[in-house]
Amino acid sequence: MRGVAGTRETPVVVVANRLPVDQVTLGDGSTEWRPSPGGLVAALEPVVQSSGGTWVGWPGAPDTELDPFDADGMHVVPVALSAEEVAEYYEGFSNGTLWPLYHDVTGEPVFERRWWDAYRTVNQRFADAVAEVADGPGTVVWVQDYQLQLVPDMLRRRRPDLRIGFFDHIPFPGWEIYARLPWRKQIIDGLLGADLIGFQRGGDAANFLRAARSTSGVVTRGSVIERGDGRQLRAAAFPISVDAAALDELSRRPETLARAAELRRDLGNPTTIVLGVDRLDYTKGILHRLRAYGELLDEGRLGAPDVVLVQVASPSRERVEEYQRLRDEVEVTVGRINGDHSAVGHPAVHYLHQTFPKEEMAALYLAADVLLVTPLRDGMNLVAKEYVACRHDERGSLVLSEFAGAADELRQAFLVNPWDIDGLKDAVLRAIAVAPAEAARRMRAMRRRVSEFDVHRWASAFLGGLEMVAESKAERAAPAPG
Ligand code: G6P
Repeated sequence: MRGVAGTRETPVVVVANRLPVDQVTLGDGSTEWRPSPGGLVAALEPVVQSSGGTWVGWPGAPDTELDPFDADGMHVVPVALSAEEVAEYYEGFSNGTLWPLYHDVTGEPVFERRWWDAYRTVNQRFADAVAEVADGPGTVVWVQDYQLQLVPDMLRRRRPDLRIGFFDHIPFPGWEIYARLPWRKQIIDGLLGADLIGFQRGGDAANFLRAARSTSGVVTRGSVIERGDGRQLRAAAFPISVDAAALDELSRRPETLARAAELRRDLGNPTTIVLGVDRLDYTKGILHRLRAYGELLDEGRLGAPDVVLVQVASPSRERVEEYQRLRDEVEVTVGRINGDHSAVGHPAVHYLHQTFPKEEMAALYLAADVLLVTPLRDGMNLVAKEYVACRHDERGSLVLSEFAGAADELRQAFLVNPWDIDGLKDAVLRAIAVAPAEAARRMRAMRRRVSEFDVHRWASAFLGGLEMVAESKAERAAPAPG
């Protein structure tokens, strides 16, 4: 059976809304597989791959019925969604209701009863698919993220013999915000079906424990939750990470170094390259960042073409209205800054609404003197950790939002409150001007952290914790000796 590295051959089934690859239809009607966007896939793929695990998920296009297949060392089990379900469960409830609510209402959550019904239906379909493919007693099922919060309980009802873990990749909001959700109790009850619930930060776990006490009347002792039915589970922080060794290796390849040098040349050999890399999402603070950067240019505190900003904004959730609005605003803002500050052949902001393979990203990270990771709210933000993992030369500075989970670990970054535009401007200038020895000291400390607490350690900590909870449950259920 399939196992996960570092966890004693534990058989594992990962279930996530998306498969690690998306099926994309091309202009001529043919289809091809492309890597899926986002931090969840980036983190979990090496974990599942290195162990030959199973991945249950949606292939990313509506009405796509596919049989299970083996690819890249994984067993892949596709779950189909109709076009209506994509609109109501994925774009609607997951990304129009939960996403803005869980990110501290940085967008306005929409509450639609129809969307909730679709969310329940689709969660049941995922639970049924897992119930069919998971092997016998003790098999570990690891459910991922806010799209599938009802799966743990639905699955337990069908397969009480499984060990069920859940990991929330995004923040869990404070009670005052969470309490708005009309289905707040159903979601908590769904999650309470797990044996272990993981969060990015201690604060997220604390918010969840409070919500569980308030809605479901459970008793909590530290991270332990006592359910009324005698079953115990745990909710705790397990900060996610990147495959640091693989990124380090990639960033040292001669072709990566050559590409980084080429990028620098293509950008006109500026003194300083400032980089932003985000999904085009309103939680990422792209507009605040552009405002700060534009003001620095207006005030002459930064000057194009000595300094250039490269903003990669990868396309995301393009059919959701709030994302369309954001794209318009970002593009108008970039256009204004460029209109005011570019010279012929030397744009002040290089804006790329595209997705790049990881080889190109590694080269960009190496070329960038400063990386701006300034989300208004973010579960972890793996871009920050990828940057650190790629900077084997111990150069480069990171400006990092306090509202990203990564700020708990990457304390040597230039930490900022992204809502404070003046503070953001000062941090950008400090990060540009920092002495090389000081930059190297900061980068060394951050690299130590990321290489020690990498994604494999994250997975084994979570799966080890899950095994312990499940074993103590088995002990309690066993008759007392003698
Ligand atoms: C975040 C979420 C993931 C999601 C990813 C990409 O990282 O935590 O669950 O897959 O964004 O978003 P998308 O909606 O395209 O899957």
